[in-house]
Amino acid sequence: MTKAHLDGVCALEQACFVHPWSRQSLESELENGQSLFYVAVEGGRVIGYIGMSFVLDEGYLYNVAVDEAHRRRGVGSALLRALTTYCRKHGFAFLTLEVRESNRAAQSLYGSFGFIKVGERKRYYTEPEENAVLMTVFFSQ
Ligand SMILES: CC(C)(COP(=O)(O)OP(=O)(O)OC[C@H]1O[C@@H](n2cnc3c(N)ncnc32)[C@H](O)[C@@H]1OP(=O)(O)O)[C@@H](O)C(=O)NCCC(=O)NCCS
Repeated sequence: MTKAHLDGVCALEQACFVHPWSRQSLESELENGQSLFYVAVEGGRVIGYIGMSFVLDEGYLYNVAVDEAHRRRGVGSALLRALTTYCRKHGFAFLTLEVRESNRAAQSLYGSFGFIKVGERKRYYTEPEENAVLMTVFFSQ
């Protein structure tokens, strides 16, 4: 992700999430050496993005989102593949995340990349209130 992608990523955030990241927060990630964002672009337009932060060999997936009109075409998988490839290449121990209990599409995507349920956080989300499922993929060295 570069500055040129910020408008597109902001638009995706607003379309996909109740509490979208602000443009300012996303822009500050461009300067953050402890995070990594990839975008999927088609015809010059951002149609998907993924982002994570990391500390040493531990990764935390912030978000993955694909424009509704472009879903079920493998874009989410391509983004997650790019990120997990980066993690493996850099010797990460694991990549972890939270996801809404009702978000079966995302859980299924994560499951296909080897993420397993490792716990849950009760009433973690608001609007609507919902439990978070914690999922992690462990990378064997
Ligand atoms: C989750 C999301 C990123 C998936 O993106 P995508 O580009 O549609 O995903 P893909 O086409 O690569 O699908 C990969 C697999 O994920 C699963 N999947 C994706 N959408 C699904 C759906 N609506 N229902 C069930 N499984 C689904 C399937 O296993 C799919 O494989 P298949 O198509 O061979 O069956 C997309 O639905 C999205 O942006 N959702 C809104 C934002 C969101 O909830 N992000 C996750 C926050 S934790």
